[in-house]
Amino acid sequence: MHTAAPIVFKATGLTKRYGQVTALDGADFELRAGEILAVIGDNGAGKSSLIKCLSGATIPDEGSIELDGKLLKFRGPIDARRHGIETVYQDLAVAPAMSIAENLFLGREMLRDGIWGSLFRSLDKKRMLAEAVSRMNDLKVGIRSMTQAVETLSGGQRQCVAVARAAAFARHVVIMDEPTAALGVKEGNMVLELIRRVRDKGLPVILISHNMPHVFEVADRIHIQRLGKRAAVVNPKAISMSDTVAIMTGAKSPDELPEAAHA
Ligand SMILES: Nc1ncnc2c1ncn2[C@@H]1O[C@H](COP(=O)(O)OP(=O)(O)OP(=O)(O)O)[C@@H](O)[C@H]1O
Ligand SMILES: [Mg+2]
Repeated sequence: MHTAAPIVFKATGLTKRYGQVTALDGADFELRAGEILAVIGDNGAGKSSLIKCLSGATIPDEGSIELDGKLLKFRGPIDARRHGIETVYQDLAVAPAMSIAENLFLGREMLRDGIWGSLFRSLDKKRMLAEAVSRMNDLKVGIRSMTQAVETLSGGQRQCVAVARAAAFARHVVIMDEPTAALGVKEGNMVLELIRRVRDKGLPVILISHNMPHVFEVADRIHIQRLGKRAAVVNPKAISMSDTVAIMTGAKSPDELPEAAHA
């Protein structure tokens, strides 16, 4: 089903070197409309480097990036955001002492209309609060009060705020680096459920994860990164977890997989 969806975000031949280390060695990448694409790989395989190139945090030495068929050159993360690509970083980018509503609008506060906004940069707190409530409701994040400080939330709820924030502002792509890594079972499931809802709203999601059960639970396709390259893209419904791990570690070659396992 998803293999037929058009490619919306694409990278070709990405190379990134850090001195003697080649983090990306001509990596290709394709994200299709409306899918959750998991990116997996061993430590050092180049997952974070790949995602950093896609989110504008790193500038590749070589290679190209296309969004909706248009070549893009990101000079920084702001550039990628401007193009509708939102990233949830591993080390939660939330401000604990601020409220949920304030966190949602961190860095893009709404100003009051008229002279108060233009001259005094006075914030439109009412409007931000109303928006926060409506966006969190959209995603069915069950948080009672948006004026509650983020530090009073559980790890899972905090991660939901970070995911909801990205989902609320992304127009094209949401990228998540290990969003469930620090969470318990219940909280992890809460975030997985939210990721599904983001996808079901029509936003494609790139999910970097080491958690195979989570990957197999939510991913439509799995990009396997190995030694700085994309080794294969597989269909979680047609491949076992152990074969997937074997490709990831190099114990098995992608050529050994049956045709149906490829996605
Ligand atoms: N800023 C940097 N300076 C020097 N080397 C780097 C830098 N960032 C990444 N590397 C190296 O590039 C390679 C790929 O790193 P990367 O962080 O992309 O891997 P990863 O797949 O995300 O690994 P992990 O699962 O451990 O997060 C590694 O050998 C790493 O040491
Ligand atoms: Mg990493």
